[in-house]
Amino acid sequence: MEILKIGASLEEWREVALRLTNERLESVCDEVGLECPPRLSEAMRYALLAPGKRFRPLLVFLGAGATGGVFSNARLEDTLLAACAIEMIHTYSLIHDDLPSMDDDDLRRGRPTCHKKFDEATAILAGDALQTLAFETILKITPSRATRCGRILSRAAGAFGMVGGQMDDVAFREEARRPILPLGILHGLFEDLSREFQEVRSNVLLNSSFDVDLVPLESMQDRKTGALIAAALMMGATVGDATEEQIFRLGLFGQYLGLMFQITDDLLDATSTVEEMGKQVQKDDDKGKITWPARLGLEPSRRYVQTLRELAIAETPGELFANREALSQLLDYVCERKK
Ligand code: IPE
Ligand code: IPE
Ligand code: MG
Ligand code: MG
Ligand code: MG
Repeated sequence: MEILKIGASLEEWREVALRLTNERLESVCDEVGLECPPRLSEAMRYALLAPGKRFRPLLVFLGAGATGGVFSNARLEDTLLAACAIEMIHTYSLIHDDLPSMDDDDLRRGRPTCHKKFDEATAILAGDALQTLAFETILKITPSRATRCGRILSRAAGAFGMVGGQMDDVAFREEARRPILPLGILHGLFEDLSREFQEVRSNVLLNSSFDVDLVPLESMQDRKTGALIAAALMMGATVGDATEEQIFRLGLFGQYLGLMFQITDDLLDATSTVEEMGKQVQKDDDKGKITWPARLGLEPSRRYVQTLRELAIAETPGELFANREALSQLLDYVCERKK
């Protein structure tokens, strides 16, 4: 595939990932529309084809190229399937996140939320259907790669990952401390490898210059947002036929990236506008959410993003992410994004 040169800039990767993922999602929606109740398929299409950034599909592509393998047609197809699957899970998580019983939002990706455009029952069912469609999509990956991708995605999306983090987000109380999960979903996926890293993340927090206890918040963010971001890179590495250790290390990097991504989301909620974001802002404060800006303040939260950036680079060896330039552009993007 001529477009995917491993040394390409982040912008080139992004353009390819965005275009191919959007095309494929559109054709998947067409197929779904032939076989299911029209209202359901319309709601799925409405949410899935809305103008999201497609950040997680981009990470699947970057993960697939991270260890330098060539993009044969078969690998590109597997990459695309994994990219679409994670975007389906992410979109379902947004539909449910916006429901009245969760964050109660009426705007998403610049449009009325799914339950506003349709109704609550349809939105719940569209989310459910996108979730199962994601796993149907994963099962189309080359069998030797599909099992690991399925394990990563199910671990990241469910009780140990995104759904567990969302539970903490809606139920979060300062006194409701839970055991530290320093390695998030990685522990369950790579028990041996994760043992040696068990202490690293919590030590980083304990030794940091921040004098508040960030561990419960970090644990929640690791799961509600970091898990899918780490999974995107790990599924990419899986279809790139990376070794187990390489997949694990990309997962570690992904968890830093996920935390950085969510802290930036919280910062943007506090500082950006509805027009820029395409979703409501100032919601976290109104809802009393425990976020980074709420715990630390704006400037220390920004500094914390920089600390995580340094750790992410330090823990990602050159042979793992061969394209250093794209790696650095990726981190710049997450630190500086405006929407
Ligand atoms: C929003 O994710 C929810 C978070 C985990 C912060 P994105 O910022 O990736 O949203 P889209 O996909 O571009 O709409
Ligand atoms: C959402 O976090 C994380 C998900 C798992 C969907 P937020 O609730 O902060 O995301 P936004 O701000 O609504 O996009
Ligand atoms: Mg939420
Ligand atoms: Mg929300
Ligand atoms: Mg938010």
